Amino acid sequence: MLDIAMAPRNSVSATETKKFLRAAHGETLDTPPVWLMRQAGRYLPEYLAVRANNDFIKVCRTPDLACEVTMQPIRRFGFDAAILFSDILIPAIPFGAGLHFDAGHGPVIDRPVRDRRDVEDLREFDPRTELSDVLDAIKMIRHELADDKALIGFAGAPFTLATYLIEGGKPDPFKRTKRMMYSDPQSFTILLDKIADMTIEYMKAMIESGADSIQLFDTWGGILTDSEYRAVNLPVLQRIFTELQSLNVPLTYFVLNGMHLESVAEAGASVYGLDWRMTIAQARHRFGHDVALQGNLDPVLLLTDEHTIRTRTRAILDESGNRGFIFNLGHGILPDTPIQSVEILMDEIRGGKK
Ligand code: CP3
Repeated sequence: MLDIAMAPRNSVSATETKKFLRAAHGETLDTPPVWLMRQAGRYLPEYLAVRANNDFIKVCRTPDLACEVTMQPIRRFGFDAAILFSDILIPAIPFGAGLHFDAGHGPVIDRPVRDRRDVEDLREFDPRTELSDVLDAIKMIRHELADDKALIGFAGAPFTLATYLIEGGKPDPFKRTKRMMYSDPQSFTILLDKIADMTIEYMKAMIESGADSIQLFDTWGGILTDSEYRAVNLPVLQRIFTELQSLNVPLTYFVLNGMHLESVAEAGASVYGLDWRMTIAQARHRFGHDVALQGNLDPVLLLTDEHTIRTRTRAILDESGNRGFIFNLGHGILPDTPIQSVEILMDEIRGGKK
């Protein structure tokens, strides 16, 4: 029920101007804050111009390029939050697994993790030194970003990062991942713990460098049954979120295709990102009223007409009551999205109001 009072987990200062933080703490606002997953990317001509001369990993690992592309969608659309331009797979490089992006094929892990020995061979590293370029980008972005905009840092959830490391690239149909999980659960658990240890330090370092919030992306968490998820995935998520709680920033967990995962609500995040498959009312039922929700327009809707975009956006806004709610898409914006669709979306959300 929408009219049950929310009890925000931590309070936000009375002078806080970042709408993202206010909504993440459960406040009701005139219009919700909005940002879009993959908001910096190939649908923007100014992004394509940067990419024309620089490969993707170089953009991620060069602080002024990462800062520039992070700022591009903020300048163009005035979103309420910037998300660091990077990728969940960047830590594969200091882990020693190697990473490159093949045009048309997506990410490739050069030395996939296939057995106990490979798991043990993954290097333990300090993100403060080995990913200092990413942290420098955060410092630059926070400096450029207006005070009323939040900066979101992120990582892959350990399970999702593990699927890429094990499969060696696009995890389809997850044969190797599931085989290790079923037949060598000990190695699988060691791998997830190793990734979680790194993630905790990496996320702490991002917050220390100026990130106002953290999001964990669990793109493949939904391939598990609820009981597998509870046994394998939930403990590492809980460990990460518990460790980060004392830093007092909103912690968002986004799992794609997770409708069947009842135990997701136990992950310990303060904001839950929703894909488009679940209504806001269903999500309130699952997650309760003392967390914020983020989502969940189907990105394909931005490939339709103005009336359809407005109608479906309005339906989400009405259902959310703008309380403890951050507007987003249900997954990343598609590369063929017209700029004008995003303008229509912003106009519908803000309706002339900021
Ligand atoms: O949201 C943002 O704007 C911040 C930057 C960001 C990127 N990737 C940039 C990117 C974030 C948060 C991610 C997360 C990410 N990366 C996820 C989790 C979220 C999701 O989409 O499910 C995953 C699974 C990845 C791994 C990844 N990176 C894949 C599978 C691909 C190739 C597919 C594709 O979309 O091209 C990437 C490349 C990538 N990451 C691009 C961008 C802008 C495209 C690179 C290019 O310019 O060619």
